[in-house]
This record gives sequence, C-alpha cells and structure tokens, in this order.
Amino acid sequence: MDRVNTKLIDLPDDISLKHCAEIIVKGGIVVFPTETVYGLGADALNPSAVEKIFTAKGRPNDNPLIIHLHDISVLDKYVMEVPQVLSLLSKLYMPGPLTVVLKKKNIIPDCVTANLDTVAVRIPDNDIARKLIEYSDTAIAAPSANISGKPSPTMYKHVVSDLFGKVDAIINGGKCRIGVESTVLDLTSEKPVILRPGGVPYDSLKLVIKDLQVTNASSSDTPKSPGMKYKHYAPKADMVIIKGDMLRVLERINNMTDDYSGVLCCKETYDRYDTANKLCAGSIKDPSEIASNIFECLRLFDEMQIKKIYCEYFDTKGIGEAVMNRLLKAASQNVIEV
Ligand code: TXA
Ligand code: MG
Repeated sequence: MDRVNTKLIDLPDDISLKHCAEIIVKGGIVVFPTETVYGLGADALNPSAVEKIFTAKGRPNDNPLIIHLHDISVLDKYVMEVPQVLSLLSKLYMPGPLTVVLKKKNIIPDCVTANLDTVAVRIPDNDIARKLIEYSDTAIAAPSANISGKPSPTMYKHVVSDLFGKVDAIINGGKCRIGVESTVLDLTSEKPVILRPGGVPYDSLKLVIKDLQVTNASSSDTPKSPGMKYKHYAPKADMVIIKGDMLRVLERINNMTDDYSGVLCCKETYDRYDTANKLCAGSIKDPSEIASNIFECLRLFDEMQIKKIYCEYFDTKGIGEAVMNRLLKAASQNVIEV
C-alpha cells in the first residue's frame, strides 16, 4: 500500500472539521472520535472510498461496516422501512452507543454491507463526529479505527500508532468517554436480537423491547453479525481470565506471575498483587470506569512487552457484559475457575 500523507488535526475547530469533511467528500478516509471508540470513516456512498477503509485496516471484506448519520431525520434515505420500535429506541438511545440493523436501500453500495441486504446504522453522541458527518452531507461508513485484530482505539495516540501514513487525516478528540463499541441490535428478524453487547446494556433495551433476544454469535457457524466470528481485541500476549472468589483469584494469580506476566485487575485488589507488572482498569463499584479503560490496558501490556496476562473476571452487570465479552475474546475464551 502506498504511504499516505496523514494530516494530524490536534485541536479540531469548525475550519479543520470542514476541511476533513471535504476530504471525505473527495473520497478520502478520516479517523474521527466517537463516544465509544475512534472510527475510520469514508463516504458510505462511494465504493472506492469504502475500499480504502478495508485496505488501511487490513479488514476482511466479508465483514460489513456501520454507517454513521448525524441525525435520525435522514434515516429514510438509507433504509427501506423503519420498524415501530425504533421510534422509542431512537428517542432514548440515538444519538448514543446503539447500532440498529435495518433493511437497506440500494443507495448503499454492497461493499459497505458485505453483500447483505441489511445495513447497520448509528448516530454517534459526539460533537466532533456529528459535525464531521453533517459537514460531509452524507452517511459515513466507519469501523473501529484499529488495525484489524488489535484492541479498538480509545485514545488519539492509539490511532496515530495504528494508522499514521495510511489515512488522510486523524482528528484528536481525546479519550473516548465510553470505551467499548456500540451495542448492535438486529431489527430485521421476527424478534429484535442483540448481535453484539455494547454501550447500551441489555437491561436498558429490555425496558423497551419485551421480546428481546440475544445471539451467541461466537458459537454459531454463520453468525448474523459477521464481525463476531473474527479474533478481536487481542493483545500480543496470551491472556487468561481467572474467575471465582476474590481471595482465591488473588492467591492463584500471585502463584502464577513471573517477570514476563502482567495482571489486569480492579482498584480494590491492585495493592494485593505482588508483581510490578499490573494495571488497574477501575473500581468494581464503577463498571463504566472499567469499560473506559480496558482497551487502553490491553495496549499498555503490549508496550510493556508482557507475554502472559492474568485478568480478573469483572462483574457482567450493565456495561460489564460488553467488557467481559471483549476480554473473553481477547483471551480466546480461556478461563480458569478457582
Ligand atoms: O461503537 C461502534 O460501533 C464503533 C464506532 C466507530 O461507531 N464501530 C465499530 O465498528 O465497532 P466495527 O466495524 O468494528 O464493528 C461493527 C460490527 C461488526 O461486528 C459487524 O459484523 C457488525 O457490526 N455489522 C455491521 N453491519 C452489519 C449488518 N448489516 N448485519 C449484522 N451485523 C453487522
Ligand atoms: Mg472493530
């Protein structure tokens, strides 16, 4: 791939965002912040621009992209029908970390949706993202802005390290507020199905959708959310999750650690690990703090050249479900129960 001259937009203002929008309109690719993780965007209606996303990330092209809109009012342009449940859902969670899968209109090129007849749609709750989309006056197709297989980027330095020289511009939006990707909800099947747990927890959706289903995409041969079949979020180290009573977890991990291993834990246990190679994701009393730090921690272990990560099993209530979904994937489902 040819090296691209990447513009770094450190302090985005209206002028620089309009300039980035122009890059999108002309068929370029731009990294932008969202409230979940950074996205790598292109004009969703321009197939050759969309192809550039797959090349820059090294993403398999059978894995469809989410299109990002600045406002729900333009949804009609891209989807065949808007199910009734979406009117309430969108009032509650859009803008926000919710992606809905709907029947697509032909205006969306097949390369965006990997030839599916559906399209995933999200309205990010981030001013920079929404201005960029609005100024581009199109839908922006964007996956997470990491090299395929690496942990999703939640900080500017992560995207600069993964994509500098491969994209036309990178916009600095600081640290992403939520830190795990959006919940993907399929509204095209008979009953709404969560394809990927994310920023909007199960319980919040269940309030609005009585017959809500959940798919275990990773165990299915033909997952409905194609991205779920790929190895994701993986740090370079081998990772294993230790589950059980807190004292036994502490004892087991302390027995296993050596100079090449690291521990991913909560604030409450941090001082009780003997090793210096330990990272605290946050307090067990605050699952959203843990969510906002996990991808950063996985990347830090890479920088520390850790070979083996021992990770606590965090609470799966609320956003904790998405956190453990990502950590289990990073660990290739490797769990030791103590
Ligand atoms: O928070 C997020 O969702 C971030 C930010 C940038 O918006 N984006 C993101 O995109 O995580 P990506 O490409 O890394 O993950 C999109 C997920 C994949 O699992 C993909 O397979 C699924 O959404 N997906 C996309 N289109 C779909 C469709 N038509 N039907 C089912 N699943 C779909
Ligand atoms: Mg991704």
